[in-house]
Amino acid sequence: MSVTNFCSADAQTASAPHAKVTFQTLQEKKQNSKPITALTAYDYATARLVDEAGIDLILVGDSLAQVVLGYDTTLPVTMEEMLHHTRAVRRAVKHAIVVADMPYGSYHVSVQEGVANAARFMKEAGAEAVKIEGVIKRVELVERLVDAEIPVVGHLGLTPQSVHRMGGYKVQGKSTAAADTLLKDALALEEAGAVAIVLEGMPREVAQYITHRLNIPTIGIGAGPDCDGQILVFHDLVNLSFAKPAKFVRQYGDAAGLFRTAIDGYLHDVEKREFPSENESYHLTKEARAALESASPIRRKA
Ligand code: KIV
Repeated sequence: MSVTNFCSADAQTASAPHAKVTFQTLQEKKQNSKPITALTAYDYATARLVDEAGIDLILVGDSLAQVVLGYDTTLPVTMEEMLHHTRAVRRAVKHAIVVADMPYGSYHVSVQEGVANAARFMKEAGAEAVKIEGVIKRVELVERLVDAEIPVVGHLGLTPQSVHRMGGYKVQGKSTAAADTLLKDALALEEAGAVAIVLEGMPREVAQYITHRLNIPTIGIGAGPDCDGQILVFHDLVNLSFAKPAKFVRQYGDAAGLFRTAIDGYLHDVEKREFPSENESYHLTKEARAALESASPIRRKA
């Protein structure tokens, strides 16, 4: 294995200008109408790239169940898997806030279990906050997490852990009553002490209304441009999710194309014996080679 790429990247980025981001930074950005930038990351390599670019917040999303582990929904990913990936991201990140997504089942049984699991992300994986999905019934949990010094990011609207209850991945808050409920939920989460709220899959107007009514920042995904910040799933951003992109996704690169070209090139070169070359091989000294050949002559390929 070669780690030279990251070692030399170290030298290039040692003086990266980004300061450590905190939730106060995000609050100031909201006050000054400066957009908050957020992306998901699940491993050391991509988290380094995202952090070095100067993104404010990195979410180790439970979307890793789908884009990294190949499940159909986010539901199967476990606490242990989320902890494992959060640790990898933590090792890479120096500037961004690292938020860990609490997986399905880790906070649904009891408030006590939710607090204990959230504390594991802070203590064992170095997360700076946890994200939980859901509405009014999570308010007590948010209060208890805040009591336990654990910053909480809420998540409202299209909440993927509720996919079966919602009957699919559908835009939420489309009626006046549903929009009103979303606003009430957002205000309740803020009141309970959440530091930010992800607004996913809702009409632009609803997200805008909620954003204006809240003091804490909103971070949108499929919720229009008026949120205080935006987040995308890293694999969607770089075309690595093997799925038709949702309407709200903009692909900024083609990692799948890049990887395919590299893999095809390697396959070709190995099959044609064009890799490795003489320059990519190690050699014995002349004396050692002569000794080896006299002991057992090396048969050359034609
Ligand atoms: O898991 C995830 O990636 C998320 C984002 C979609 C916000 O929750």
